[in-house]
Formats: sequence, C-alpha cells, structure tokens
Amino acid sequence: MDPVKVGVLGLGTVGGGTVNVLQRNAEEIARRAGRGIVVSHAAARDLNKPRICDTSGIQLTTDPVDVVNDPDIAIVIELIGGDKLAYELVMKAIENGKHIVTANKALIAKHGNEIFSAAQDRGVIVAFEAAVAGGIPVIKAIREGLAGNQIEWLAGIINGTGNFILTEMRDKGRDFDDVLKEAQALGYAEADPTFDVEGIDAAHKLTILASIAFGIPLQFDAAYTEGITRITREDVTYAEELGYRIKHLGVTRRTDRGVELRVHPTLIPERRLIANVDGVMNAVLVKGDAVGPTLYYGAGAGDEPTASAVVADVVDVVRVLTSDPENRVPHLAFQPDSLSDLPILTMSEVETSYYLRMQAKDEPGVLADVTRILGDKGISIEAIIQKEPADDSSEAVVILLTHEVLEQQMDEAIEQIEALATISGHVTRIRMERLDAS
Ligand code: HSE
Repeated sequence: MDPVKVGVLGLGTVGGGTVNVLQRNAEEIARRAGRGIVVSHAAARDLNKPRICDTSGIQLTTDPVDVVNDPDIAIVIELIGGDKLAYELVMKAIENGKHIVTANKALIAKHGNEIFSAAQDRGVIVAFEAAVAGGIPVIKAIREGLAGNQIEWLAGIINGTGNFILTEMRDKGRDFDDVLKEAQALGYAEADPTFDVEGIDAAHKLTILASIAFGIPLQFDAAYTEGITRITREDVTYAEELGYRIKHLGVTRRTDRGVELRVHPTLIPERRLIANVDGVMNAVLVKGDAVGPTLYYGAGAGDEPTASAVVADVVDVVRVLTSDPENRVPHLAFQPDSLSDLPILTMSEVETSYYLRMQAKDEPGVLADVTRILGDKGISIEAIIQKEPADDSSEAVVILLTHEVLEQQMDEAIEQIEALATISGHVTRIRMERLDAS
C-alpha cells in the first residue's frame, strides 16, 4: 500500500522534531500504523533558516496555503502556533477534507468548539494530544483509559517553562529572567514568553483537560489565570519550612455548584509525588471515582517529547483511515450532543486553603487583630510562624496557613487585614491544595 502523505505547517522546534522522529522511526511507525507515513510538503516562514531536521525530499514552500490545498496530502500537521493564521489554515484544511494533527493549545482552547463541529460535518479527525503536557499521553489516558470513571478533579503542572524557572530559582537561587532566557534558548518557551509566566499557556491546556474530564464545551474565557511572576524566593523558603512546595498548578474540579477552572501558584505538601516534579517535566494528577488518583508524568516541552505526541496522533489517524469513520473517539471524549452545561465557577465561589504572608509591626496585639479578622470570617488557622524583625527593621514577617474557606470570605478578610495600621503593604496570598485521595 502507498504511504500516507502528510504536510507540515511550521518547521521550528516541534516541526523539526516531528520530521526527525517520523524519519528516524519510519520503519517501526509503519509497522504500528499499518501504512508508511511520509512528510511530502512543508511550509516555513524562512526557507534559508538553519533547521534541526533534514528536509531533503520534502517540497518546501513559504506559503502554508499551498500545503493545505495540496490534493496529495491526507493529514495536515499544524505546528505554527498562535490562534489566528493557524485557525484560518485549519478551517481551510478541514474544508478540503484533510485530517488535522495539532500541538496548538491556544487554537483548541479558544476555537476548538467550532473546529470540532466543522470537522464533524466534514467527517475528518482533529487530533491534539501534543497540545497538553508535551509528550505525556494524558488526553488519551483521560479520554480513553479512564472512560469508565466519573472524573472528580485533576491538577497538573502543565507549563514546562514555568516549572523549570521555579525549580532553578529554588534549587540554585538563580534569577527569574536568567532562567527564562535559558528556557527560551532550549525551545521550551512560547513565542511570547508572557504566556508561560503569566499562566495563559497553562490555562489553555487546563481548559482542554477540563472539557475532556467533564464533558463540557471549551471555555477558556472563564478560566482564572495567575502566573508565577509574583512568587519570591522568601515565599519558596517559608513554604518549605512549613513542609510545602510551591508549584504552578492548573486545577479543575467538579462540585455541586459547578466546575472550578483555575491556574495559579499553589502550595502542595512536599510528600506528594507531584510536589517533586522538577525542571521542564510536567505531571497531571487525575482522580476518577473508580480508579482513584492516577498520575501521568513526562517531559512537558521540547522538540522530540512534543513530536512523540504529534506522531502518535498521526499514527492514530492513519489507523482509522481504514476503519469505521462513524465510530471514532469523540474530540472532547463525550459525544458532541451529550455535552453538559455545568457552569464554571468564578474565583470568589471557589473553596480552598491559603498561605498568607504579611509584614507586621512588632507590637503587642497585632497577631490578635489578624486572627480576630480571620475568625470573624469563619477562617480557621492551621499554622502560624513569625520571623523576628531584622536588626535594621521594626517589622516582623508573619506567615499563616489556613483551612479551606470560600475565596470571597478570604478576599474580605485580606482587605480588612491590609487596612490595619499595624500591617504594611499587601498581604501575599498563595492558594494551597492537599491533593489527597479524597
Ligand atoms: N511553552 C510550553 C511549556 C511549551 O513551557 O510548557 C509546551 O506546551
């Protein structure tokens, strides 16, 4: 049988890695897919740029529309990123009857509902394993491997760049900007690295995971997004003294009132496996009612780890080219006419526990005022430490861990604490998750 011809849009880090893996493992991949797979056409913005892959034998163009319109191509692999040109190209490719494989989380999180509907109408597949957690096959695990469960919650370290920065800052005392530059040089960071450090990239990925876990439409605009830029070395140190690690987590949980969908720095007990996921590695902890907690771990970014997921999707598409087209795995795990309209909760409706850090005048009664305000809001304290003022200061640092409370109550308490004459500046708040089996 003739090999299946695929076209690649974008020959950067992931595009180059994908060509390399497809070429290097061609024989093994063909044995798995039942057909050979060849990259016959590829588009790149600058054809003179040095590449990490060998493009001999591939027809090259600077116009991606040439690839999307190429009648010989059955599968278009979209690896240019962004959600504007990529959106137009993917929609055009679907119209042309091409199957799509993409690593583009922004595209899926923002336009997935529309793209899947167009794909359904045209009878083509849109596969996007590489969009979440790089090389970890977590979409397949949730969509297929956990299909018998009600997913209760999931929490993940889903931005490799952010985790790399936090790890290097903690372990080596390195500077934020310096580590970010290294992550960019290693090809981990987004074209706009604020997407990594402000939590937007993680929110794209969490949006996708929540839809697959709970069978809800993709709702990126409803996600709460907070990045790692305000985490200081002292917060990392105090958290460790209390037995916690600070990780940037995406958390989504089904509650009686709706779905939590939030991305923010989080204190996690250091004994949890996920608290020890360092560097560019990602991990997603998924709690199903039947299976209990399950953990998926692996490289979250980089050329070949991401290519691993892209190529697996290409193999899946090639396998189903010959099977019953009406019996495919649904894009969002649940049949499109069975999606649920569970509301996404606003952040003030979320219940969680907190780490609070504040600068307090070293005077009698200060702690009593703070604990009274918390008590009046029904917030109970789990731990408290006070650091004596440095020699040249009259202010002590107070760190508190609280039990779970509605974020609305915490917002009001923080406002009152910040208004105390004995507290200076803002109260630093980092949410905490126990991530235990319950
Ligand atoms: N910039 C992303 C990250 C790439 O660092 O996780 C993989 O999606």
